[in-house]
Amino acid sequence: MNLKELAWKYESPALFLKDKSFEHIFLKKAKGVYFWDQKGRKYMDMTSFFGVMNFGHSPDFIFKKKEFLIHGLGDVFSNVYRVKLAEKISRMLGGSYQSIFLNTGSEACEIAVKTAYLCTGKPYIISFKNAYHGLSGISLSLTDRFQKKYFSPFLYKKIVRMPFPGDEVSATKSLRNLKKALKKYPVSSLILEPIQGRGGIRFPPLFFLKELKEICKSGDVILIFDEIFTGLGRTGKMFAHQWYNVKPDIVCIGKGIASGLPLSVCAGKRELMNIWNKTEKETLYASTFSGNPFTCYVALEVLKKLQNMDLNKEVISKGKTLLKELKVIEKKYGKIIKNVRGKGLLIGFDLKFAENIWKTLLFKHRTFTLLEGKNLNTIALSPPFIINNSHIKEFIYKLEKILNKTI
Ligand SMILES: Cc1ncc(COP(=O)(O)O)c(C=O)c1O
Repeated sequence: MNLKELAWKYESPALFLKDKSFEHIFLKKAKGVYFWDQKGRKYMDMTSFFGVMNFGHSPDFIFKKKEFLIHGLGDVFSNVYRVKLAEKISRMLGGSYQSIFLNTGSEACEIAVKTAYLCTGKPYIISFKNAYHGLSGISLSLTDRFQKKYFSPFLYKKIVRMPFPGDEVSATKSLRNLKKALKKYPVSSLILEPIQGRGGIRFPPLFFLKELKEICKSGDVILIFDEIFTGLGRTGKMFAHQWYNVKPDIVCIGKGIASGLPLSVCAGKRELMNIWNKTEKETLYASTFSGNPFTCYVALEVLKKLQNMDLNKEVISKGKTLLKELKVIEKKYGKIIKNVRGKGLLIGFDLKFAENIWKTLLFKHRTFTLLEGKNLNTIALSPPFIINNSHIKEFIYKLEKILNKTI
């Protein structure tokens, strides 16, 4: 049986693309900006495999340790690396923060809203249109995507959904509606991505997050930023919220934190996170692999690398080069490509015939990008920070070639 037959026979189709027109690609190995499939074909990865492999694939620092305590305990005892990681995250966030370590981004968002509920006893949550916070448990309810319609009996119903504003007029309207909603519902938390990722790389106006914070503060609402995609240097600052000068009460971190090993974090102000100290005999939350020692060790290495890195040089200026090149293309092929936008190495642009162009990039030019946005008309780029000028040129060359044929 070939891999395609094996996949259809033994893997549930939950986790791979099922479009019959797709060539099946099975990932085999990866290094740096490139990966290879089962047939030995080489691809350029313009996504860091969804904002995870920020230092490129197979980074050397992961494989440095020869002996290791791979697994510790999810609860009962902490481990040396987990404690050190918690301290480091608190310092990075610039205050007194405590962390809960988890395995997926979805779990981190779930723990964040549960923390807010424990602290306030108020059942309502505010979330945004086009938001993406994961697809399991409560997170699926927070998310605004088609998957929900298949699981409606499992969804949490006490969620007020607000529009995510892309300009000043809609931001002002959204803030007004937020004030109204807070009068109507007992809300414990408001969760949002400071820049929407899967929703189509969307940026709110600068003043929006600042005013959001003020409104939350005066309404005793805990402000949660989901920085799972935007955090850890992706936008050129350690966290995207630093561009907006707004500190949240709780931050969710995931994806790139352990360079491909499953780890996520819900980090909140100490006075909030202490609420989890309710029971002595058994923890209030537990998960077998939470913050396992090897993953936390790798995360410590990742954060060390990030802190020693010149984000201006490695992320902001490379992002500017990529944006500049894309804007040149936008001018030339304005009928097909528009709204080139981005911060650091988180970049999006809208396309006519987006799906076809995405497929051509992948299957003909062996270049992997992400198709995002509610109508899947945005191509999102989140390349590894190790990308260089020649990778950028190679990508632009391929994209232009496709646009030239499409026009
Ligand atoms: C902003 C954001 N939050 C949460 C998640 C969910 O993370 P996970 O897939 O690890 O559950 C994602 C995943 O893409 C994300 O982009």
